[in-house]
Parts: sequence; structure tokens; C-alpha cells
Amino acid sequence: MTIDLSNISHISAELGTLPSSMVAWVIRPERLGEPEVAFQLEEVEGPEPGAFEVIVRVMAAGVNFNNVWAALGEPVSIFGSGDHPEFGHHIGGSDASGIVWKVGAGVTRWKPGDEVVLHCNQTSYEDPEVHGLDPMAAPSQRIWGYETTWGSFAQFTKVQAQQLLPKPAALSWDEAASYGLTYFTAYRMLMNRAAIQAGDRVLIWGAAGGLGVFATQLVQAAGATSVGVVSSAEKGELIKQLGATEYIDRREFAGMMRTGNETPEEEKERIAVMRSFAKRVKELLGDSPDIVFEHVGRATFPTSVFTVKPFGKVVICGATAGYTLDFDVRHLWMRQKEILGSHFANAWECTKANRLIDDGLIRPVLWRTMEFDQVGEAHQLMHENKHLGKIAILVGATGPDEGRTADGPGAIRAEVGA
Ligand SMILES: NC(=O)c1ccc[n+]([C@@H]2O[C@H](COP(=O)([O-])OP(=O)(O)OC[C@H]3O[C@@H](n4cnc5c(N)ncnc54)[C@H](OP(=O)(O)O)[C@@H]3O)[C@@H](O)[C@H]2O)c1
Repeated sequence: MTIDLSNISHISAELGTLPSSMVAWVIRPERLGEPEVAFQLEEVEGPEPGAFEVIVRVMAAGVNFNNVWAALGEPVSIFGSGDHPEFGHHIGGSDASGIVWKVGAGVTRWKPGDEVVLHCNQTSYEDPEVHGLDPMAAPSQRIWGYETTWGSFAQFTKVQAQQLLPKPAALSWDEAASYGLTYFTAYRMLMNRAAIQAGDRVLIWGAAGGLGVFATQLVQAAGATSVGVVSSAEKGELIKQLGATEYIDRREFAGMMRTGNETPEEEKERIAVMRSFAKRVKELLGDSPDIVFEHVGRATFPTSVFTVKPFGKVVICGATAGYTLDFDVRHLWMRQKEILGSHFANAWECTKANRLIDDGLIRPVLWRTMEFDQVGEAHQLMHENKHLGKIAILVGATGPDEGRTADGPGAIRAEVGA
């Protein structure tokens, strides 16, 4: 059935009430694969809010790598987790800006009409870890719009009230929808896990990507310096604009990437290229990095462990190139280096990080604002590494720049290379 999207920005129901159905991009277990195929438009029955839950009318949504994984069904299918078995579909999307539309029992901090952005961590308030350790440690912890359905690629989304943050007034809907997942993740990696200090030197992989554009800005805001790794001169110029001291084009050091299938001879050659890369990093930063910001995984991890300074930290939150890592552990123990895992952020970290956006100290980096009918295409671009920074999708908003209610710097438009 063809879905008519001409009225996607129109809601027939009054604030506080919900229409009987909504339009959503849906992934189903029988059509996992390339994002352009896996994502399909459907008309579905919308969600109702339970206790401490909120239905938000989505004005714009943000595109993240997690729904590339959801579409591919790799490294695992998401259909076994969260509320997927209950509803049988995956409506993805872990970033959004929108309007509180209906609140469930017990919600007191928010009311219909409030303008919000969403963070993507969900946990049960019944887990004791939430009340003293960290919500990210709770057994119920899930990423909304990835490990759960009812994400943001739909007219309405269902979230926990603790996920709501005030929308920065100087941002339009698309700008406000673009930054949460990657920015809050980078914030926890650097501020909490790696405990960055003024004067630190940092190496950032994929510095012009979703995580990297925020890591680069946060390093500068912390009084530290960074060198970013990218794969084009255009991306390099972007990250210098964001505060990187310099960039390295990884195509110059293609031989350092680990596949795991190297013969002993090939591994020797790989190590030689890795050493020259580490030397270049040291020259550009003035010394070896105190922190390496990792999310590439198999291809780069041996280089990260080798390149980081003695007693330095490699902080990792992902594995785009593969999650089975191998490296020479002597570089780790002899030089007393640390490896730190990190995953998204808790609500307090998101709140503090969001204030920096509100104050204009950290800015979203928006490459493209795309229409609602382009959700599959946007994820395909990301899968093929053809993007820079972030991509936003218009849902309830009728154009980019709509929704700004105060003056301010807004997003950096990463048009280079577009
Ligand atoms: N655990 C969490 O909470 C969390 C949160 C956010 C993201 N992640 C994960 O982290 C990864 C990155 O996310 P993202 O949003 O930053 O993605 P992204 O926007 O695609 O950026 C990643 C960057 O990594 C670089 N890259 C890709 N493949 C590479 C390779 N084989 N070798 C070296 N560099 C490579 C690319 O930059 P160049 O081509 O310019 O080098 C790309 O711009 C994804 O796997 C994502 O699922 C995890």
C-alpha cells in the first residue's frame, strides 16, 4: 500500500489526545538488509503512554549508525530485545526534537505543549543501580529506538519521562534533533570515563563523523588539544574549523589497518606503517596522546593501544570495522595503559551536556536535513560513509530552520564535500 506523505506534518488530534493511527518507518524481521530495503513506510496503531511515560509528537528526527545495524540485522537482530517481542515491529530512531503531546500517570515535570529533545537511554526505575550506581549499569538498560520500538522515525514516539530535556531555544527542530545520541556518548567517553584534563592531548578516529565532530569540540572546550583522523581533505578542513589542531588522512596509512587475517610477513609490514602513523601523531600533538577516542574497532584498535602514551587511556564505544579485536598486549601492560569501555550516557550527563548546547559552547554539526520520505536513503548514505557530521529528518516540521525561538549561533552546516 502506498502511504500518502503530503499530510505528514498535520496532526488531526488535539493536544493531549492521540489519533487512531500514525505513519512510521518500520523494519521487520523478514526484510533485514540494506537500509534502503529494510526501512518501509507503514500506517500503524500508535502507542499509548504508560505510567511515567510520555508521547512526543516528533518534529524532526536524527539519523544514527545504530539503525544501520538494526536494518542489517548485524551484529545481532534487535527483534529479541526490549519491547520488540511484544509489538513485533521495529520503529527505529534514537534522536528527536518534538512537542510533548500526552503524558502518562505520574508525570509531573512535563506537560502537553512543552518543546523538548530526547536522550535515548531507558531503564526501569525499579532497578537499584538507577538509584546509586548509574542507570547505564541497570539490567533493564536499553537504547530507545534501537533496542526498543516506538523510536523517532514516526509521527509520534513513546519515551520515559526521564528522557526529556528542554529544547535549546536557539536551535531549529532539525538542528535540535541531530545531536543527542552521538554528542552525549562523546561527552561521557571524555568527561566521565577518560576524565579528560586541560592540557591533555587526544587522538580522535573518525573525527568528522557523528561522534567525532562532538569529541573534537569537547576536547577544545576542556582546554585540551586533538588530532583527528579522517578520510578526505574536506573532512580535515571541517574538523580544523571545529577546533582540531591538525588532521591525518588515513588513506596515507592504509597499511596500518588490521584485518585479523594477516600472514606474519604482512603483519610485520602493518606494524611498520602503524609505527610511522604513531610518529606522525606524536609530531602533530607535541607528544603521544593521553587519550585515544575509539569506535572503529578491529581495523584501528592495535594502533590505538600502540599509539597512546604510557599510562594513557583508550576509550571505546563501538566497532564499525568489527568487534573481535586483537592487539599486542605487551604494549598495554609494559606501558601500563588502560582500555575503557563506554556506552551512551546517563540522564544527568545528558542534562549537563545539553546545557553546553543551550549556551552555544558546543554546536550541532548538521550535514543535511532530509525529508521524511528519505529515511532509508539517509541510513544508506551513512552505511556507505558518504556523510559528514549529522543528518536530520523532517517529520512534523515543514522546513529546515523552523522552530527557532531565540537568537543564537545555531548549528554548524557541514556542507563541505556535500
Ligand atoms: N555505544 C554507544 O553508545 C555508541 C554511540 C554512538 C555510536 N556508536 C558506534 O560508534 C560507531 C561510530 O558512530 P558514528 O555515529 O560516529 O558513525 P559515523 O558518523 O559513520 O562516523 C564514524 C567515522 O568513522 C570513520 N570510519 C568508518 N570506518 C572506518 C574504518 N574502517 N577505519 C577507520 N575509520 C573508519 C569514518 O571517518 P573517515 O572515513 O573520515 O575516517 C566515519 O566518519 C558506530 O559503530 C556506532 O554504532 C556507539
